[in-house]
Amino acid sequence: MDRRSFLKSSSLVASGFALNSLFNQSVAQTNNAILPSKKHPLLLNFNENSLGMSPKAKDAIIQALPTAFRYPDDARAELLNNIAELYNLSDKHISIGNGSSETIQATVAMLANKAKQRGINIQLVTPDPTFNYAELYSLPLGVKITKIPLKADLSFDLEKMEQAASNFDGLSVVYICNPNNPTAMVTPYSQLEKWLGTQSDNVFFIVDEAYAEFVEDPSFISAIEFVKKGQENLVVTRTFSKIFALAGLRVGYGVAAPNTISAIDEFLSIDNTNTAGAVAAIASLKDKTFIAHSLKSNNISRKIVEKALTEIGLEYAPSQANFIFHKVNGDVKTYKQRMADANVMVGREFPPVVGWNRLTLGTPEEMEQFVIVLKQFHEKGWA
Ligand SMILES: Cc1ncc(COP(=O)(O)O)c(C=O)c1O
Repeated sequence: MDRRSFLKSSSLVASGFALNSLFNQSVAQTNNAILPSKKHPLLLNFNENSLGMSPKAKDAIIQALPTAFRYPDDARAELLNNIAELYNLSDKHISIGNGSSETIQATVAMLANKAKQRGINIQLVTPDPTFNYAELYSLPLGVKITKIPLKADLSFDLEKMEQAASNFDGLSVVYICNPNNPTAMVTPYSQLEKWLGTQSDNVFFIVDEAYAEFVEDPSFISAIEFVKKGQENLVVTRTFSKIFALAGLRVGYGVAAPNTISAIDEFLSIDNTNTAGAVAAIASLKDKTFIAHSLKSNNISRKIVEKALTEIGLEYAPSQANFIFHKVNGDVKTYKQRMADANVMVGREFPPVVGWNRLTLGTPEEMEQFVIVLKQFHEKGWA
């Protein structure tokens, strides 16, 4: 179940679970009381950053509140400039989204419209499993979905993806999530370089780098390099929801050639950036201490979980993000339900890869709690 389906789930909404528990969780963290309980479950299911945002981001929001009755143009323009500066690009290379989800949505809509105007077919070529918003936004637009299963080692089958694009009569939108959600694995630049670096009228790449700031593996190089070289058939999406911990404020962005950005922008909601989100994002970009803290905390959390998984003999994929994909002994749905009964909300299975579960890395303290429960499960033969 993705986040959208999860929130629509009538039983959860009827029990008031979703919103109340999210609210209570933040209260619980403020009081440093993070033992999992019914009232304060461990939320390790949606790849959020449970450190909470940078104190400087909070201050920036408070400072901006008295002028938040105005439209957000100034804050939005400043954010645009700051992101452009980060990559040594112009603000014409940047499109701000209401979360990177909106950038993905607008890109898909722009391309579907382009195919319609040209009178040609359009398909989305997407690995399976991967983050499914490109697919969800494609479906209502009548875009054909072509799913290419991951290889046995959980890496992308780039050859088959490329074949699917070259065999298609029309425009292929290729979605590449790097690192991939749910595996947290990186696809090395050396493997992407040849295909992604090729300008073509029939192929457009959406490279989703939502977790890039967590990556330390040197084989990863951002696809923003292709934008810098002037390539027009791709957009790279980034977000403030992950390392910057601003998921609830909805700020993300796309980086692409100016022509591509102006085409995407036509499909965005006008005034899509709220003032609080913009000023928090500006402050977060500048707060290098917080960024380093967020990265370090995630690395510690990952080590805690990897150690426990190794001790109980559960295989895991090499994570370069704020979540980890690991094997479960037995049925994943049962494991997930038992974890929920123990007030630990873990991710889920991602068919067609079965027997594996995605676990979000919370704070180190939260992961110590998770490990206690995991080890109890192992003793009972549940994990
Ligand atoms: C790979 C990936 N891309 C994009 C998003 C959405 O991010 P945003 O909050 O910026 O819309 C997520 C959210 O979990 C994600 O995992």
